[in-house]
Amino acid sequence: MRLITLVFAAAMLLFLTDSPAEDQDPNYSRKGADTCFACHDDQTSLAVFRTKHAVPDDPNSPFGHGQLQCEACHGPAGEHAARVRRGQERPAPIAFASNANTPVAEQNKFCINCHTADTGFAWHASGHDINSVSCAGCHSAHADNDPVLTTSTQVEVCFDCHQQQRTQSMKPYAHPLRQGEMDCGSCHSTHGDTTDLLLVRQTLNDTCFDCHADTRGPYLWEHAPVSEDCSSCHEPHGSNQPGMLSMRAPLLCQGCHSQDGHPSLPQDAGGLAGGIPSQFLLGESCLNCHSEVHGSNHPSGSKLMR
Ligand code: HEC
Ligand code: HEC
Ligand code: HEC
Ligand code: HEC
Ligand code: HEC
Ligand code: HEC
Ligand code: HEC
Ligand code: HEC
Ligand code: HEC
Ligand code: HEC
Repeated sequence: MRLITLVFAAAMLLFLTDSPAEDQDPNYSRKGADTCFACHDDQTSLAVFRTKHAVPDDPNSPFGHGQLQCEACHGPAGEHAARVRRGQERPAPIAFASNANTPVAEQNKFCINCHTADTGFAWHASGHDINSVSCAGCHSAHADNDPVLTTSTQVEVCFDCHQQQRTQSMKPYAHPLRQGEMDCGSCHSTHGDTTDLLLVRQTLNDTCFDCHADTRGPYLWEHAPVSEDCSSCHEPHGSNQPGMLSMRAPLLCQGCHSQDGHPSLPQDAGGLAGGIPSQFLLGESCLNCHSEVHGSNHPSGSKLMR
């Protein structure tokens, strides 16, 4: 494995020998990546050659001909790479680690230079940019496969910062995020868009209809909260109630509907203590009778019972 890497790196070096950096700003190192390898020949540094950033034939790639190689991302590092006197501090290049000294705006500038199309207006209006999340907070530039770009590994990247969503997704009723069958990107466009909360569609409900088209209707008898906002009853990131409900019936329903004047209350003889008929509290509770909670197409379904 190590041998293959070395052979590959050697092959890459052939491409790099006509390094362009020499004619550039004097602050760039004289021999591009070759300069860096003198001190950084570890696996992590070399792994960058197995990524889409190391395509010599692509003039826009950091390792394309005429590009700045490592310094396309790490910034001019001539002084960093030079010999330093004893007791003198080595000037730092642009660093991307979460504890790096480089300010986030400065880090991101180097990525955005090449990725304006991927991170346009929407990125700059997003909660991530406003809260100084760096590109490298989600993207790994020195990994064979950037985990945030793969469904089965993406959620762990997001959970690093979004603990609340991690906790919710561990609950017994949740979208199959933990199982790697969906990712956050199923509902959120992470780089931002014009919607609230980075949702992939214009409204919350449209986001759900992508996969749950059957709840879209139109219904002859609509249930008002369903056409307004699925999250008035469901927790999209997971919950302790079957059906990912935010509460169980009857509490869920009683949040909006009072029992007063319910036509079937007084007529029912066999009730629980307090005279409340058992159908109201046991089993499916309100859903025992109002089973079509998303809406009904039955001519006499106005009470969502069929
Ligand atoms: C003469 C040896 C030497 C050369 C050449 C060199 N570096 Fe470094 N580099 C170091 C040392 C030593 C450190 C650790 C510095 C520290 O921890 O204070 C370092 C750290 C770094 C870091 C991490 C900085 C941080 O704050 O975490 C990056 C990124 C880096 N170098 C990039 C480069 C690049 C790109 C090149 C080529 C242009 C390069 N280095 C050339 C010695 C070198
Ligand atoms: C010199 C220009 C340049 C710089 C600087 C640059 N990129 Fe790229 N990046 C590219 C090119 C070219 C591609 C390949 C695009 C393609 O294949 O469609 C790419 C691809 C990517 C991809 C997709 C990778 C994949 O596997 O599909 C990601 C993510 C990415 N870059 C993030 C970053 C981040 C984060 C930074 C800053 C740390 C950065 N880039 C800096 C030019 C650059
Ligand atoms: C909060 C996490 C996060 C941050 C921060 C982030 N990205 Fe991404 N990026 C993603 C995800 C997730 C994808 C996969 C596509 C998608 O779902 O939109 C992606 C995709 C990409 C791609 C590949 C696009 C394609 O279609 O192949 C590039 C390039 C990229 N990001 C660059 C950047 C740059 C540059 C920054 C910083 C300005 C950045 N990203 C910040 C999460 C992030
Ligand atoms: C596409 C942009 C990009 C290129 C090109 C690039 N790096 Fe990096 N580098 C990063 C990012 C982002 C990090 C932060 C860690 C990560 O994302 O994996 C990093 C981290 C590092 C570190 C610090 C690792 C640590 O322990 O914190 C060193 C050293 C380094 N790079 C050296 C290099 C060298 C040498 C090259 C050229 C062979 C290079 N990098 C090319 C983006 C890049
Ligand atoms: C490095 C930390 C970090 C990572 C990693 C991260 N986020 Fe965030 N995210 C934040 C911060 C900070 C905010 C803004 C404050 C808040 O709302 O919690 C935020 C906000 C959000 C929001 C609310 C949007 C808004 O405009 O308020 C969504 C949705 C989101 N992130 C999704 C994701 C997804 C999806 C991923 C993984 C692809 C991800 N985040 C990765 C830090 C992060
Ligand atoms: C099934 C769709 C769906 C999936 C999958 C999803 N989200 Fe969300 N997310 C939503 C909806 C809808 C909202 C807004 C309503 C709410 O918070 O209940 C939201 C809100 C958020 C918020 C803002 C919360 C707040 O109160 O400000 C964050 C942060 C977030 N999601 C992160 C994530 C992360 C991280 C993942 C992946 C682990 C993820 N989401 C997966 C649908 C989804
Ligand atoms: C990318 C597709 C996708 C999107 C978008 C999506 N879901 Fe789901 N949903 C699923 C999958 C897959 C399941 C699991 C089905 C299973 O386990 O059989 C599921 C299950 C559910 C369940 C539980 C079903 C049950 O039988 O317990 C509810 C409730 C739900 N989703 C609501 C929502 C809401 C609300 C939204 C919008 C915020 C949404 N979904 C967006 C794919 C999606
Ligand atoms: C008034 C509360 C309420 C609203 C609003 C609501 N639901 Fe439901 N939903 C329920 C109840 C109650 C169940 C039955 C849960 C069970 O089976 O235990 C359910 C079940 C589901 C299921 C499981 C499969 C099925 O059809 O039985 C999905 C998927 C679902 N809802 C999606 C949605 C979507 C998408 C929206 C928004 C368009 C939405 N719900 C709005 C109350 C609601
Ligand atoms: C977020 C508030 C909300 C929740 C939660 C809610 N509803 Fe509703 N429901 C409404 C509204 C608003 C109407 C329309 C009332 C009207 O048109 O007078 C309605 C109408 C109804 C109707 C038809 C009433 C009529 O007069 O035609 C029934 C039956 C009903 N809901 C049952 C339920 C059940 C069962 C649940 C629990 C699964 C539930 N609702 C949860 C707000 C809610
Ligand atoms: C035993 C069956 C049954 C159960 C259980 C039940 N309902 Fe009803 N509900 C009915 C009937 C029957 C009507 C009247 C239908 C009509 O007038 O056409 C009704 C009417 C309603 C209405 C419309 C009220 C009106 O004034 O027209 C609402 C709202 C409602 N139910 C909510 C609920 C809620 C919330 C629960 C759970 C706490 C519940 N129901 C449990 C049978 C039931």
